[in-house]
Amino acid sequence: MHVFGAVVVCTLACLTHAYHGGSHAGASQPSGDPVTVTPLGPIKGSWMTSRRGRRFESYRGIRYAQPPVGELRFQPPKPFNKYEGEVDAREEGPACPQPVTPGYYVDEDCLRLNVYTPKKNSAKPLPVVVFIHHGGFYVASGRSDVVGPHYFMDRDMVLVTINYRLASLGFISTGDANAPGNNGYKDQVAALRWVQQNIAAFGGDPTCVTVMGYSAGSLSIGLHLVSPMSKGLFHRAISMSSSPFSQVVIGYDQFHLAKKQAELVGCPTTDSKAIMDCLKTIPWKTLGDSLTGFNEFAGDPVLVWTPIIEKDFGQERFLPRHPLEMLQDGELQSMPYIVSQTKNEFYWMAYKITNNATRIELMDKEWDKLASIAFLLPRDNPQPARVLRERFIGQGPLRNDSKTNAGLEVLYGDSLVGFAMHRLANLMCIHSKSPVYYYEFNYVGQHSFYEDPNTKKPAGVAHHDDLIYMFTISALFPDIGLTGPDAKMVDRMTAVMYNFAKNGDPNPRGDLPEIKDLSWPPMVPSKRNYLQLGSTFSVHQNLFEDRFRVWDELFPIDYNYKSAKKT
Ligand SMILES: *[C@@H]1O[C@H](CO)[C@@H](O)[C@H](O)[C@H]1NC(C)=O
Ligand SMILES: *[C@@H]1O[C@H](CO)[C@@H](O)[C@H](O)[C@H]1NC(C)=O
Repeated sequence: MHVFGAVVVCTLACLTHAYHGGSHAGASQPSGDPVTVTPLGPIKGSWMTSRRGRRFESYRGIRYAQPPVGELRFQPPKPFNKYEGEVDAREEGPACPQPVTPGYYVDEDCLRLNVYTPKKNSAKPLPVVVFIHHGGFYVASGRSDVVGPHYFMDRDMVLVTINYRLASLGFISTGDANAPGNNGYKDQVAALRWVQQNIAAFGGDPTCVTVMGYSAGSLSIGLHLVSPMSKGLFHRAISMSSSPFSQVVIGYDQFHLAKKQAELVGCPTTDSKAIMDCLKTIPWKTLGDSLTGFNEFAGDPVLVWTPIIEKDFGQERFLPRHPLEMLQDGELQSMPYIVSQTKNEFYWMAYKITNNATRIELMDKEWDKLASIAFLLPRDNPQPARVLRERFIGQGPLRNDSKTNAGLEVLYGDSLVGFAMHRLANLMCIHSKSPVYYYEFNYVGQHSFYEDPNTKKPAGVAHHDDLIYMFTISALFPDIGLTGPDAKMVDRMTAVMYNFAKNGDPNPRGDLPEIKDLSWPPMVPSKRNYLQLGSTFSVHQNLFEDRFRVWDELFPIDYNYKSAKKT
């Protein structure tokens, strides 16, 4: 977890330099700041310039729910009836509490979203894409230095990027009325409801909303597809590199984490009321900064806060039953769906182990325990960890060699992402009435979320790498211009996603020359197609299925099962 967070957290250091006065920061225009009058009240924004030099309106840091502070901390989000006066959305809002470089803007008052629109008054309303950010449910944000709009704003679409509460502030769950859980997901629902209510004022079409999520955001979308709270709020979905259907146990509470959080900040741990009463009094910064205390070994586990099946305490429930059961009960909202994984995902986590003599020895000796932490396996049953070691690493001790590295690379990748995407894609193409488009991202560009410390070059296709060609990420990477080796990839990725958002089908219709060579058949149970999306497009079948067969045997489900409840 620490390691994963570190990618984002450390690099935020460069942010104060990278963002302010950057080439695309919106200088104020002679015509003055744009104002949009929404049903909740007027909002003042600023002008920005896209990659191809198009001027667009930018509204940042808009509160979509009341500040979740004081009595509202640990409560579900509370919407506004009306804004008081004109909202000033000219400056970037905060990220939610998390460890950051001093000076970086974080605040508990973080239920904000950004809206970007290139054409507020076009005769035909524009398709809307709402991006739910990555960061393991404990870091990152929807801010424009993390997911910037400058590439998508060359397309005729409205882009919304949202924050949601993170870590304990968003996901604490004691399993009783003191903290029923899932508030971070309810924040996302509140943002989607805000979009339904207000996006038309920005030129967006509320009947054509695509939710796009990466990693934690992607897992969230898997839940929104079955949640009763999310029904009717969106019409197409894109899940990149995470899903709620995997070996990860989804239970009724994470009381052990509430207790751990209490211990980390010096609160009593006697019972859930004592824990929650005390946590309400702790400064948000102390809570946000305590994140690394959840690290158990070498930065693992990457996923700490899982969704929770909510018992009924009279609250609006995001997840009344296990998502798989809800799917089998026919509660899926069917809609066109893109699902994807990258070629190597979390492969680089292997080196954190093998490049440290202490860690590799510990992992070798205490495999059952440490593998269950690293690969999100059940903690009470050593069998899966043993089978996975035998199958993917083989006999003999773990060493700093190519055999161990290769095994750990796929174990990290498949346990944290690959198997969940395999399971999601296969379940969806059976249960959904709409097409499922599956892709493997395999483009190695100039930059990556993992760059080799010696060569400073990408060493594979890492988790998050597809984001580089859809969003400016000024906190980490230089912008990709109109020329150079990665330019074409931006043209293609934004065209694919825009086309899908607009038409519910990524395949070209003659109006997008960037993707005229794309021909992407949906995945169906009898022909499990996927697109290899790199500098060329090619269609193949059965993505990494030889590896996932082992996982499916260890964690069996009946993919075809539909309960009698289904009508
Ligand atoms: C592990 O192996 C790599 C590649 O041979 C080497 O560069 C590195 O120093 C080794 N690390 C340790 C801790 O032995
Ligand atoms: C090596 O691993 C140990 C145990 O996790 C850790 O305490 C230590 O900081 C690591 N060393 C480096 C250089 O990362």
